[in-house]
Amino acid sequence: AACGKSEDKKTSGSTSDISLGFAQVGAESGWRTANTNSIKDSASEAGFDLKFSDAQQKQENQIKAIRTFIQQKVDVIAFSPVVESGWDTVLKEAKDAGIPVILTDRAVDSKDESLYVTFIGSDFVEEGKKAGQWLSDQYKDASADVNIVELQGTTGSAPAIDRKAGFEEAIKGNSHLKIIASQTGDFTRAKGKEVMQAFLKANPKIDVLYAHNDDMALGAIQAIEAAGLKPGVDIKIISVDAVHDGMQAASEGKINYIVECNPLLGPQLMDAVRDVLAGKTIEKRIVTKEGTFTSEEAKAALPDRKY
Ligand code: AHR
Repeated sequence: AACGKSEDKKTSGSTSDISLGFAQVGAESGWRTANTNSIKDSASEAGFDLKFSDAQQKQENQIKAIRTFIQQKVDVIAFSPVVESGWDTVLKEAKDAGIPVILTDRAVDSKDESLYVTFIGSDFVEEGKKAGQWLSDQYKDASADVNIVELQGTTGSAPAIDRKAGFEEAIKGNSHLKIIASQTGDFTRAKGKEVMQAFLKANPKIDVLYAHNDDMALGAIQAIEAAGLKPGVDIKIISVDAVHDGMQAASEGKINYIVECNPLLGPQLMDAVRDVLAGKTIEKRIVTKEGTFTSEEAKAALPDRKY
């Protein structure tokens, strides 16, 4: 029936009765809020009937939401998978129901690429490499060990896995750069603060913090200040995202370098929905374009930042 419905839309060209089910990860970070707003705004501009579900960072909730979308016979399902593994069964159910699936933001590790139409989002390995490259450049003349602590994103998520791998790859040429502690902060401010407190207690000399997102860096900054240290000076900080609060902290010199991860995926997603329903061929991988910001660059960019 879902296929039949899509057929009608292909021929009638109408968008007003297109339904899109979107299963979001949660509301764990400033990035996620900006991403949700982008999807809701773009769906409403496109005139699509958006069915939005918030999984509160739990895979089981996302799977439930996808199954509900299948029952509701939506035209297209899109989602940002909280973790990489464990999607094959539910994706197969969507495929059997004839409902195309679009991945946004995060990838799945399914071997069968026919289970989804396309994956729109950042190259997280590249983001990690940019972070590591900047650090390597900063410490290229180091003659003593540089102690790095790492706040990882949600365990098992594509950005946590890839940002770690990319960073390690980029710093491996400089033997003075040492990751002395690495733990998940679940992409949240509260957890970032809590884990940083523990890092500070256990490690007398921390030179650098690499946080997989701005929110964890912002939480860690609170812990660093509470310990009587100056973020950005006593401990250099690198993070990923470039959301407003992160850019604000960077412009104040508390974060030294931010690698951008663009959350404004809504317009590209709506284009993909239109294209898939029109029977057009879509690229299997659509990579988002992103930059980087030093403190100075963050200060200059902040007034025009949209999120
Ligand atoms: O998947 C993108 C990541 O998820 C963002 O970097 C992080 O802030 C968010 O929670």
